[in-house]
Amino acid sequence: MLALFIFYQLAIAVNEDLLFIKYHIHIINDLSPGVPSPLYLHCKSKNKDLGQKPMLQHQDYTWDSKINLFRTTLFFCHAWWEGKQRYFVAFNARRDEDRCLWYHNSCLWSVRDDGFYFSNDNSTWTNEYPW
Ligand SMILES: *[C@@H]1O[C@H](CO)[C@@H](O)[C@H](O)[C@H]1NC(C)=O
Repeated sequence: MLALFIFYQLAIAVNEDLLFIKYHIHIINDLSPGVPSPLYLHCKSKNKDLGQKPMLQHQDYTWDSKINLFRTTLFFCHAWWEGKQRYFVAFNARRDEDRCLWYHNSCLWSVRDDGFYFSNDNSTWTNEYPW
């Protein structure tokens, strides 16, 4: 009974702590340099429009976000390149609140010729959204 109470208090404390963490989201243009057409990115949440940006090679589209009380914070991006387009979720509180704690509170994305790769350590990359 007491153990359950303590566990419950701890769970609340952990959850409230998350709200103060500032996450850093990075989307880097790692498309091959041979293709002259630029990559365009446009990211937004329900309340915030981060704007459409043409991306040079290795340029970083980056912003910070905290997680709201209901853990519904979500940023999605629209990308265009070479006549292709794709939507992807760059930050989703419920998906990313834990996995993006490991490397400076960062969610890292690398846009490559075959898709959008995620990393939470800046060394292992997984293609989570093929073009
Ligand atoms: C990831 O690693 C690269 C290469 O070592 C470095 O240039 C870059 O700044 C790192 N990214 C972050 C967000 O720390």
